[in-house]
Amino acid sequence: MADPTPILTIDGPSGSGKGTIARRVADQLGWHLLDSGALYRLVALAGLRKGLAQDDQSGHQRVAEQLDVRFGLASDGGEQIWLEGEEVSRAIRTEQTGEGASQVGAMPGVRAALLERQRAFAQAPGLVADGRDMGTVVFPSARLKIYLTASAEERARRRYNQLKDKGLDANLAALSLDIAERDRRDASRPIAPLKPADDAQIVDSTSMTIDAVLARVLELAAARFGL
Ligand code: DC
Repeated sequence: MADPTPILTIDGPSGSGKGTIARRVADQLGWHLLDSGALYRLVALAGLRKGLAQDDQSGHQRVAEQLDVRFGLASDGGEQIWLEGEEVSRAIRTEQTGEGASQVGAMPGVRAALLERQRAFAQAPGLVADGRDMGTVVFPSARLKIYLTASAEERARRRYNQLKDKGLDANLAALSLDIAERDRRDASRPIAPLKPADDAQIVDSTSMTIDAVLARVLELAAARFGL
């Protein structure tokens, strides 16, 4: 039997640098990228636009089941995401949508509705999957699992710079509190909590540059996949 599609999972808390690293690793390897957080953000945004109450589980499950989304790339290489035909790449990156994503991510019906959609990203020549439960739930037999983390202070600082760079409003003290609250919710939910898979390699990026993290992940990938 042919080897299954090679999968590299990168899980970790908000602001650990997963998103940037996953994108750059996928680019370097020429593999597909699954940004699973974007799916949870899209469900939160679609629910908000439909006027659903934040705790409406069956309503958000239906939204997740019917999610009409398209991923693409702008001519400058930036991401483009359409929700029901409308470009929402910026709208899904706000802190408000991130907070909503963390809330809908705690709903079992939403997670179940997104499971097969996420697994469908596993296609040749390979997949880099970024999220909270990629190595534990969505792709438990992935051949390389990385858990990327950093101190809470460093993650708040990175998030602050990221938002500022995008021209979005940001306040460092408020971000630190939000990150602590989001960590608590993502790690303590009963279903698919944020935690390293038993067979994950832990990479602590607190005092590493993005380039150093990228080099480390590529080194692990080369060794594991024989690239
Ligand atoms: O990675 P991100 O910041 O875009 O994710 C936003 C929220 O979505 C995160 O706080 C929790 C939820 N999420 C999840 O529950 N499971 C995932 N695999 C990815 C994100």
